[in-house]
Amino acid sequence: GSKSENALVDAHELLKKFYHHLLVNTKEGQEAYDYLINRGFTREIIDEFEIGYALDSWDFVTKFLTKRGFKPDEMEAAGLIIKRNQEESYFDRFRDRVMFPIADLQGRTIAFSGRLLKEIKGQPKYLNSPETSIFNKSRTLYNFHRAKKHIRKNQQVILFEGFADVISSVTAECQQSIATMGTALTEEQAKIIRRNVESVIVCYDADSAGIEAAYKAVNILTDAGCSVKVATMPDGYDPDDYIKEFGAAKFRNEVIENSLTLMAFKMRYLRRGKNLQIEADRMKYIDEVLKAVSQLTKAVEKDYYLRQLSQEFSISLDALKEQQQQVRHEVK
Ligand code: UTP
Ligand code: MN
Ligand code: MN
Ligand code: MN
Ligand code: MN
Repeated sequence: GSKSENALVDAHELLKKFYHHLLVNTKEGQEAYDYLINRGFTREIIDEFEIGYALDSWDFVTKFLTKRGFKPDEMEAAGLIIKRNQEESYFDRFRDRVMFPIADLQGRTIAFSGRLLKEIKGQPKYLNSPETSIFNKSRTLYNFHRAKKHIRKNQQVILFEGFADVISSVTAECQQSIATMGTALTEEQAKIIRRNVESVIVCYDADSAGIEAAYKAVNILTDAGCSVKVATMPDGYDPDDYIKEFGAAKFRNEVIENSLTLMAFKMRYLRRGKNLQIEADRMKYIDEVLKAVSQLTKAVEKDYYLRQLSQEFSISLDALKEQQQQVRHEVK
């Protein structure tokens, strides 16, 4: 990185250490610390992930970094402070939040995400650093730098939606865990993943946002050359909730080990909102499954799912094969 980028990273590294100190050693950080402990985070986890606390102050960061030789325009370029309209004054972006440091692929701290301790109307639950010269959201994957050697060793990565899910999964001894940055998985992130591993387990929240996001993510990952499975949980749970309620062993043995194959997930997804007793829905479903089948690369897999459809809906295999050929030409 250039000299100015190094300064932005230095500012993040310094602030990360101080946020962590505020969380674990000060009276001001006590409420945030208790919040994390009540959520089931341990002191070891708080230390390992270098979680911190941003004071309830408008100018703490400006003062702290000014004392250490940083200029306001550098802090602003780092996304840490915000310029007041038409004034030469600034205020801290992150105030009274639990701070999760975000690292780039090499482990340099390049951004933060700050979580509210309790819901505040009109404020986002997680506030993220803006895109800067050092922070490109679409190329960042939370915890990747720590997970990398485990990903290679296990020849598998588990992809989550949220920070808390990654942290709980690591405590459940699945250290090959990473997350997107609160936005849809990008092609760039999929390429980064594929450079390190082929096998991906998508483990998103079991709510409609999570299921829709998972459906998009599996297609992006497949296009990038990954082989994908999807872990599912009871409705309404996210992986962090699940681990805290049912424990690490059940998460590993029932959620991760029993991940659905890509087609099983797609079939389940395509059934959502349909009543297969109704002919129109049934025909639509069969058509959509045939499209998904035609995207499979292995002949044996295609045959397997066509037979499954044939049995479930009492349709001749020949008819399904014929229709799948047609669908294939339509797909592209
Ligand atoms: P979720 O709403 O599922 O949050 O959003 P979560 O991870 O379960 O968080 P907890 O358990 O309530 O603390 C998933 C991810 O989307 C991003 C964050 O990265 C979050 O982890 N997000 C969510 C935001 O960036 N901003 C928000 O306001 C909410
Ligand atoms: Mn520590
Ligand atoms: Mn969610
Ligand atoms: Mn969630
Ligand atoms: Mn959660």
